[in-house]
Amino acid sequence: MHLYSLLCVIICVFAFECHAQQFYAREEPVEPCGGKGSKQVDVRGSREQRRAAETIIASFKRDSFACSEKPGTIITQDSVRIDLQDAVGGFERNGKRWRNLQLQQNGPRRPGYPSTIATVLIECNKTFPIRLVRKAFVDSMAKCAMIWLSQ
Ligand SMILES: *[C@@H]1O[C@H](CO)[C@@H](O)[C@H](O)[C@H]1NC(C)=O
Repeated sequence: MHLYSLLCVIICVFAFECHAQQFYAREEPVEPCGGKGSKQVDVRGSREQRRAAETIIASFKRDSFACSEKPGTIITQDSVRIDLQDAVGGFERNGKRWRNLQLQQNGPRRPGYPSTIATVLIECNKTFPIRLVRKAFVDSMAKCAMIWLSQ
């Protein structure tokens, strides 16, 4: 009886491990980081900007995006917002389809300067653990990199 239980546990663990979903988060540095001509704001020196971004990231609840979803603002809080940016259908790269999520500064934009605080390229039609989506936003601003989140 004990042997059967033990075998069952081993088989169950093995089956679970084999079916565990793999998630990938690839970093692509933003160069230059911050300043005129950059694609992303460098918030690493601004505690206030980071705090506003961290607050909106913590309340972000979307863990999947359809490739066919219309672009637009998903959530706005005070000085920042998170947008789904690209056209319906997303875009193709490395044999996968992606959507472009951007954490943006609200308010008037200085010509030539970025308003994007974090960039997450997320594979569409897939579901991710929400903690990985949030971590991708945090890593993007902390490391000044675009994060490619895929399965
Ligand atoms: C995404 O899912 C929808 C609905 O199931 C499907 O019609 C569409 O072809 C899928 N797109 C891609 C790129 O997988």
